[in-house]
Amino acid sequence: MTNKPNLLSGMQPSAGSLHLGNYLGALVNWAQMQDDYNAFYCIVDLHAITVPQDPNELRANTRRTAAQYLAAGIDSEKSALFVQSHVPAHAQLAWVLQCITGMGEAGRMTQFKDKSQKSGVDSASVGLYTYPILQAADILLYQPKAVPVGEDQRQHIELTRDLAIRFNGRFGETFVIPEAVILKETAKIYDLQNPTAKMSKSGDPKGLVNLMDDSAAIVKKFKTAVTDTDGEIRFDREAKPGVSNLLGIYSAVTGESIRSLEERFAGAGYGALKGELAEVVVAHIEPIRNRAEELLSDPAELDRLLAAGAARANEQAEKTLKAVYDAVGFIAAR
Ligand code: AMP
Ligand code: TRP
Repeated sequence: MTNKPNLLSGMQPSAGSLHLGNYLGALVNWAQMQDDYNAFYCIVDLHAITVPQDPNELRANTRRTAAQYLAAGIDSEKSALFVQSHVPAHAQLAWVLQCITGMGEAGRMTQFKDKSQKSGVDSASVGLYTYPILQAADILLYQPKAVPVGEDQRQHIELTRDLAIRFNGRFGETFVIPEAVILKETAKIYDLQNPTAKMSKSGDPKGLVNLMDDSAAIVKKFKTAVTDTDGEIRFDREAKPGVSNLLGIYSAVTGESIRSLEERFAGAGYGALKGELAEVVVAHIEPIRNRAEELLSDPAELDRLLAAGAARANEQAEKTLKAVYDAVGFIAAR
């Protein structure tokens, strides 16, 4: 296509709406990176079923996730936006990689430890255990130089690199060794009700701002955000996590520096900051939500865009899988 380096990243279709943390922490960056990279963005439905899913909800959430990515600036001309299960090579390469991963190595992955704690290890699925190996396959199929992810994914990218180096060493140069591009700490958005915890769909619903929330709900969530009692508008994550989070969101949405915000709001009350911030966020999110709803009103067209993305993804993925099968000694079907 071009001689730009490849990039791959993925997100789970595990909710009906992305939240402000997903948007400001990941999506904005992904939209920017697509100019400098030949980007592949994958909606990882195979990963989603590592924990129980309602089939109808999974279908709806997959389309909703795709629509929000497109609405927020992923350009289907520039980048391949596709659904993981549309590209069979993901599951196929995952099998080969599972066969070069040690049990102990897989057992050290902290996401499995965290996620299996809820139900207990015995009732967690084997798929949840091998999740990071499927993720390695997602990545390595596309020969990407860059994998933009959040800090929590660092360990999975390390495993991916280890597996790629091991495979290349055992079977000959096959994979590009990818680099994690970890978004900076300042891009982290915190829960409005509990501002020392990161904003997350499993947190307090009142502290969670969703891209698909209606405007009145967003205003209400900002107006009731937790702050503190000293009344000073100043950025200090330690002493003033609530106010700092509000300033951080403001700065991320508008590009205005924290310092300039501190000066502009000096002497003003928290109510003024919250009110203005709510307006700014609503003005920013409303067009994205409207565009996403528009895309969702025509699922056939949305599916067509995803099919086009899958065709591009399949082309690259098939090439890598063929090289892998050949390297490990599978004879070609004729
Ligand atoms: P998740 O919903 O946890 O699978 O995350 C999807 C993407 O959004 C990942 O790249 C995360 O690093 C990013 N992300 C999730 N929550 C936040 C947050 N509160 N602040 C910034 N980025 C986030
Ligand atoms: N595990 C990632 C998360 O929880 C999602 C993911 C799956 C992913 N495959 C990927 C991220 C490949 C980057 C690259 O957010």
